[in-house]
Amino acid sequence: MLDGIVGARPNLMKMAPLARALAEDGTFELRLVHTGQHYDSQMSGSFFDELGLPPPAVNLEVGSGRQGQQTARILEAYEDFLLRTGKPRGVIVVGDVNSTVACALAAAKLQIPVAHVEAGLRSFDHSMPEEINRILTDALCEILLVSDPSGLIQLAREGYATDRIHFVGNIMVDSLVRELPQAESSTVLADLGIRPQQYVYVTLHRPANVDSAQTLRPLMDLVQELAEDIPFVFAVHPRTAPKLAELGFSPGETRGGLRFIDPQPYRANLRLIQAARAVFTDSGGIQEESSVLQVPCFTVRPNTERPVTVELGSSEIVGSDPGCIRDAWRRLCAGVWKKAAPIPLWDGHTAPRIVRVLRGVWA
Ligand code: UD1
Repeated sequence: MLDGIVGARPNLMKMAPLARALAEDGTFELRLVHTGQHYDSQMSGSFFDELGLPPPAVNLEVGSGRQGQQTARILEAYEDFLLRTGKPRGVIVVGDVNSTVACALAAAKLQIPVAHVEAGLRSFDHSMPEEINRILTDALCEILLVSDPSGLIQLAREGYATDRIHFVGNIMVDSLVRELPQAESSTVLADLGIRPQQYVYVTLHRPANVDSAQTLRPLMDLVQELAEDIPFVFAVHPRTAPKLAELGFSPGETRGGLRFIDPQPYRANLRLIQAARAVFTDSGGIQEESSVLQVPCFTVRPNTERPVTVELGSSEIVGSDPGCIRDAWRRLCAGVWKKAAPIPLWDGHTAPRIVRVLRGVWA
């Protein structure tokens, strides 16, 4: 038996293809563990239904908290669970959220080997909680499953033995490829009264962008300015909602060309990316999805741990400075934006490659 850990929304589209591939292969039974880091239906429950994820064997119900507090709660709750129920043959963690590092640590301390899906990504920005999670998780894992070619170079540079490193591609693309046909028949655009190529899709939730009014206010001023020319649709993450309220925006509000909507289910979100004139985001997953769908992506961050989305994909790092974002917007409007190229192994077949690696090492 293997434990598969999910906790936050971006884990779910990574675990779903793996759950399916493990079931098809039959070598290992999967015990799905939900830490409860995300708990709203919009952030978790609806994704299980859409992605066909089996219900978790347990929900540790840790909920929200400060960085250290949430990580500690997950560590303690998962260790208790392992001690109560017995050790699996291995544990699979995905991504870079607090659930990822906490469960990897609990397992490693009990001598259970861990595999990390999305190993080797580095933003080199230690102010991001995710960067700390990435570095620590890789250090705890026996199997390092790499999605971005930069991860191979980085893990080698950090001294990891090559037999621990496996370039398997991007598992989120497995979910994207599988769900795209249904996403294309989503009614979300009609429901919102927008047309393909005639709106910009926005998501912002990184602490560096949304936690301080000093950064968020100028970004929102810019979005409102640009929304005079083309509608902007902003899907508001729960972390961002109270910050927008502090700036005087209300949930569900439309102000000029700017419309706020709730966090979207998986397929509606995919459709909103696919049909957008451009995407403004600080989400790592949406940078990747935009690249695969060849939609211009304004990465509203000073850096990215996913450089292939800039080198080969359709993403450009525009930072959080309104002047730089406006310049990039003018270039897009003038038709000057790079064309995305295919990214190696982002082909929808990553999950079976991961299962082959797990079988080779753990069977
Ligand atoms: C987490 C991840 C981030 C990922 C993001 C995707 C970490 C450090 N961060 O950030 O990498 O990109 O998920 O969504 O793990 N909240 C709710 N309902 C929920 C969950 C959260 O209202 O279901 C609110 C709470 O007020 C909470 C806040 O959102 O305090 C932040 O949630 P948290 O899990 O701490 O981090 P995210 O910002 O969601």
